[in-house]
Amino acid sequence: MAALLELENINTYYGHIHALKSVNLTVEQGEIVTLVGSNGAGKSTSLRTISGLRVPSKALSGWKAKTSLR
Ligand SMILES: Nc1ncnc2c1ncn2[C@@H]1O[C@H](COP(=O)(O)OP(=O)(O)OP(=O)(O)O)[C@@H](O)[C@H]1O
Ligand SMILES: [Mg+2]
Repeated sequence: MAALLELENINTYYGHIHALKSVNLTVEQGEIVTLVGSNGAGKSTSLRTISGLRVPSKALSGWKAKTSLR
């Protein structure tokens, strides 16, 4: 079965600040996933990117973001 959420090589910027660097994440149905990290690690930016509030850079190759949250 296809993953509910799939991020592949995601890079997100705030201007020149490279906040997310090649993030990969897959969430399968039934899984519970938590993001853990220090201040500024990119947890909020990851959630903003997943929700569409921030758009990942398409300038880098291999960009892929799929969501099918239910
Ligand atoms: N609005 C913004 N403008 C510029 N840089 C930002 C902005 N928001 C976050 N950043 C930078 O992006 C990087 C990731 O920040 P983010 O807020 O996603 O981290 P976080 O893991 O949620 O941190 P915290 O635990 O403090 O909530 C950091 O280097 C941060 O300084
Ligand atoms: Mg945060």
